[in-house]
Amino acid sequence: MSVHKEVKKITTHVLQEMKMKNEKIAMLTGYDYSMARILDKAGIDIILVGDSASNVMAGHETTLPITLNEMIYHASSVVRAVDRALVVVDLPFGSYQGNSKEALSSAIRIMKESGGHSVKLEGGKEILESIDRILSAGIPVMGHLGLTPQSIYKFGTYTVRAKEEDEANRLIEDARLLEEAGCFALILEKIPAKLAAKVAKELTIPVIGIGAGNGVDGQVLVSHDMLGINNEFNPRFLRKYHNLYEEMMGSFGAYINDVRSGDFPNEKEQY
Ligand code: KIV
Repeated sequence: MSVHKEVKKITTHVLQEMKMKNEKIAMLTGYDYSMARILDKAGIDIILVGDSASNVMAGHETTLPITLNEMIYHASSVVRAVDRALVVVDLPFGSYQGNSKEALSSAIRIMKESGGHSVKLEGGKEILESIDRILSAGIPVMGHLGLTPQSIYKFGTYTVRAKEEDEANRLIEDARLLEEAGCFALILEKIPAKLAAKVAKELTIPVIGIGAGNGVDGQVLVSHDMLGINNEFNPRFLRKYHNLYEEMMGSFGAYINDVRSGDFPNEKEQY
C-alpha cells in the first residue's frame, strides 16, 4: 500500500518516505478554518499557510505587508481544522531577515501561538544562519528558492527565474546548502522544468514545485487560484479545477434577485 494511505498523520518523516518510494506529494495553500477542513478531508498532504494570504485574503499587491500576528491568526485557524495534513507556515517578510535571533523568535511565536508544525523561509545562503538557529530549536524548516515573492522589489518582475546558467548554478548551490543545513523539504517556484528535475534528482529531501514542471517530488498551488476564484490570474503553470468566480457570481446574483423579488425566504424557510 502507498505510504500516504497508511498514515493517520503526515509528518516530515512520512514526506521523506514518500520521496524514497516515488510517491508524489500534494500541497495546497489554506488560510482559514473552513477551507482547511475541506483540504484535510480531501486528503491533502501539506497545507501551506502561505504569505500569499497577503494577496488572496487581504488584497495587497505583494506579500510584503502581511505581519507575523496576521500569519499567526491564519495559521491557528488552519491548525484547528486539521487532523491529518502537515501544516507549514510562512515566516512573513521582515520577521527573519534582520538576524538569526529575530528569525528564531518569529519561528517560536508561530509554533507556540498557532500550533503550526513547521515554518518556511524564502532564500538560500544569505539566511543559512537563521535556518540553522531555527532548526537547532527543533523546528522543522522548509526552504523556498527560485521566484521568491518577498524579494519582488529586488527582481522587479514575477517572470521565470534561473533561466541563465549563473543563476541556475547559484540555485543548485543554495539547494545543496539548504539540504545540508537540515531543511526537511524545498519549494522551487517558477524555474525551468529541467533545472527543477535536476535539483529533485540530486537532493534526498522532497522538492515541491510551483511552475517548476513535473520532474519534482510534489506540487503546490494557491487554492484560490486552482479553484478559479480569481479570474484575473492566469499564469501558464496554473491548472484551474473549477470556475468558482462564475459559480459564486451566479449564486450571489440569484440570492440578490430572490431577496429583491421577495421570493426568499418562502414558507418552509421561516419559523
Ligand atoms: O505563499 C505562498 O502561497 C507560497 C506558494 C506560492 C509556494 O509561498
